[in-house]
Amino acid sequence: MRHLLEIDDLRPDELARVLELAAMPDPPRVLAGAGVALVFEKPSARTRHSMEMAVVQLGGHPSYISGAEVGLDQRESVEDVTRTLAGYYGTIGARVFDHRTVQRMADVGVAPVLNLLSDRSHPMQALADLLTMQQEWGSLAGRTVAYVGDGNNVCRSLALGAAMCGMRMRVASPAGYGLGEEAATRVGALGGSLEETEDPVEAVAGADAVYTDVWVSMGEERVADIKRAAFAPFEVTAGLMGHAASDAVFLHCLPAHRGEEVSAEVIDGAQSRVWRQAENRMHAARGLLGWLWAERGRP
Ligand code: CP
Ligand code: NVA
Repeated sequence: MRHLLEIDDLRPDELARVLELAAMPDPPRVLAGAGVALVFEKPSARTRHSMEMAVVQLGGHPSYISGAEVGLDQRESVEDVTRTLAGYYGTIGARVFDHRTVQRMADVGVAPVLNLLSDRSHPMQALADLLTMQQEWGSLAGRTVAYVGDGNNVCRSLALGAAMCGMRMRVASPAGYGLGEEAATRVGALGGSLEETEDPVEAVAGADAVYTDVWVSMGEERVADIKRAAFAPFEVTAGLMGHAASDAVFLHCLPAHRGEEVSAEVIDGAQSRVWRQAENRMHAARGLLGWLWAERGRP
């Protein structure tokens, strides 16, 4: 049984196939008569709705389930919720505070589990990010993406995905907020190149894409003021974009905070691809589900 807890749960050739399927606008209805359970412990605009519509486009039925409703580890254990949902649904997606929750769901071994964002990773986002850059350039190999900001879940999955596609990644974060050694080791094992710095200009110099994410992730509200102070010099402005390649694109997983991690001029400007990127969440999800259900046999 296959799960997607992190993007490198796919092999590089499988990732390439998922991106190929994502580009197919009218796929076979491989989910006909089947459902996908979507459990959310945190809010969502893009992930919930892109998943729901991808399931619909594949002929299946998506069910949104709030974490509070099923009461993970409160009303009953994560394992018992998983066993129950697997009796009705062919696949379970979950957005969770603690990555160990999706790991425990997967460990039950009764349905494929898709991580719809945890504190550690956001693989469905990385699929859309790679798709967006592929649409821009054709091939990803040899390109450089500069990530400016928090070495968080989005950054980690992007770094692994970029490595799997032969891209270079540079990350600029304040001291103590970088990706860290485990991610670097994992990128290295994938044959990738990851450079970390505390200097945004150094990271962005000549890059083909500049990426950022919120400074305060969901669940980090308690340390919001400390993080905002630490990240103040890391805003992606037109001045910073000026150090990237002249045809560089700007990416952001969204939601965005204009005047914090990105200026309005950049996110609303000609180099921004964020709305295409957001739409690509649905195409990428359709590619992933199509691969999981059609090419691996019904799970
Ligand atoms: N990018 C992303 O995951 O957005 P949501 O939190 O709105 O799902
Ligand atoms: N890093 C952000 C991503 C939101 C899509 C968070 O975890 O809140």
